[in-house]
Amino acid sequence: MARITALLFASLFLSPLSAASPTRASPLLASRQDTDNEGLHSLMLAAGKLFFGTATDVRYLDNKAHQAIVQNPNEFGMIVPENSQKWGELEKEDKGKVDFTNTDIIAAQAKGNGQLFRCHVLVWGAQLPSYVTSTSWTEKTLSDVLQAHITTTVTHFGSQCYSWDVVSEALSSSPDSNTLSTTSLFHQVLGASYIPFSFYWTSLAADPSSKLYYNDFNLELSPSKAQGAVDIVHLIRNYTSPTGEKNKARIDGIGLQSHLFVSSVPSLPSLTSTLELFTNLSLEVSFSELDISHSSLSPSPNATQIEQQEKDYMTVISACLAVKGCVGITVWGFSDKYSWVKDAFPGKGGGCLYDENMKNKGSWFAVAEVLRRAGVVRRGAVAVDASLDGEVAVAVNSTTTVEGEGGGGGGRDPDEAVRKAARSGELMRGVNGTELMVAAGEEVGDAQGKGQGVVNGARRWVVTGWGGWVVVMGWGFWGFWGILSS
Ligand code: XIL
Repeated sequence: MARITALLFASLFLSPLSAASPTRASPLLASRQDTDNEGLHSLMLAAGKLFFGTATDVRYLDNKAHQAIVQNPNEFGMIVPENSQKWGELEKEDKGKVDFTNTDIIAAQAKGNGQLFRCHVLVWGAQLPSYVTSTSWTEKTLSDVLQAHITTTVTHFGSQCYSWDVVSEALSSSPDSNTLSTTSLFHQVLGASYIPFSFYWTSLAADPSSKLYYNDFNLELSPSKAQGAVDIVHLIRNYTSPTGEKNKARIDGIGLQSHLFVSSVPSLPSLTSTLELFTNLSLEVSFSELDISHSSLSPSPNATQIEQQEKDYMTVISACLAVKGCVGITVWGFSDKYSWVKDAFPGKGGGCLYDENMKNKGSWFAVAEVLRRAGVVRRGAVAVDASLDGEVAVAVNSTTTVEGEGGGGGGRDPDEAVRKAARSGELMRGVNGTELMVAAGEEVGDAQGKGQGVVNGARRWVVTGWGGWVVVMGWGFWGFWGILSS
């Protein structure tokens, strides 16, 4: 029978995450030094995903510190132009005078750094050329102009685009509505058919390897809106072109923008089931414009709010890790200095992973930690993603005892040991060959008499199925660790 010989004895000397400034490396998380070679994208790859990316643009090229981070392919493996590829930016001057220069600069930089490039966005109701918004269109004239814009733009970028945001924000912004937005010029002139029409023309022009996405906000918050996106997928797949062709309009993915606010992030089970709504349709998904802002910056966020932001980031990252078809995560800018949120929502902000001085915030360390743990597990063994009570859990069969040294709280640091084991390619286990289970959830139940409750998101290593003695534990947000033995 398992006997707990030492447990729960470090809560006093491990300070809570919230105790320090937003830019510090939490004592509970890896130190900055540990993570220097482990950028978010590298960690994401090690966790079995395709990319961790960011939006950026030409207007930030002069900021050297910003550029150093953008151009570090370990940190960001996917780049998306924040504005320069929007229709209104490409055709700023006269009708038909398309200028790709700015986007080409960003695309070339991404290529030079070996980063994927996401193309954003072909058909969106905002940031349109002024001639588009001021002309009085007929169905025919608008269709022709839309088709020309799609074909010219998609052809120009060709195979450079990992994916295209073909249509963005076609759904109504009313909460709990699954209807299409009627404020969009395209809807007003062409009705719902502008959506499959756009996917059809993009499908004809795009490189077959480029993924074609529908991209929207609040899909992660509103089940009705998510259902609206499902309806859009069917609309596209059932489309018959003007020349009578069927099955030619392709859609490959759904981008969940995820412009979220601290304390209002959906739960992990809710997020994973939204992602699965789409992956069940044989689509890939990604969090496409992630930021988790404070809903008020005045007074400055306090320690509790900062800690909540860290947890909220962990929840979103864990959701992507938990769903096989979630290919990656892209943040909509990584520094609070340039976040679009403070312009779009005055008084709100502070939602990025880096502060205004390009220093990693607690949110960055929280994200890195979730990814690292997922990657450790994946490298440590044949990764098995299991879902336990709707939470993320990963089981590892292993052959090496995990017993750590260093670290806080009494001389053992299981995380460091696990990291070492992973780096050297060793497998991990309790000494008797039982499994280790690592959970990145909020509460993992004890369904089969194996495992233990895990609190506060990916904070604790859990040993399952012990028959002999096992080492390991980890810690919770409020800091404890211990050793189990039998
Ligand atoms: C935003 C940019 O970040 C801002 O700089 C610009 O002023 C407005 O657009 N959803 C989208 C993005 O798909 O293109 C938007 O980007 C943010 C919301």
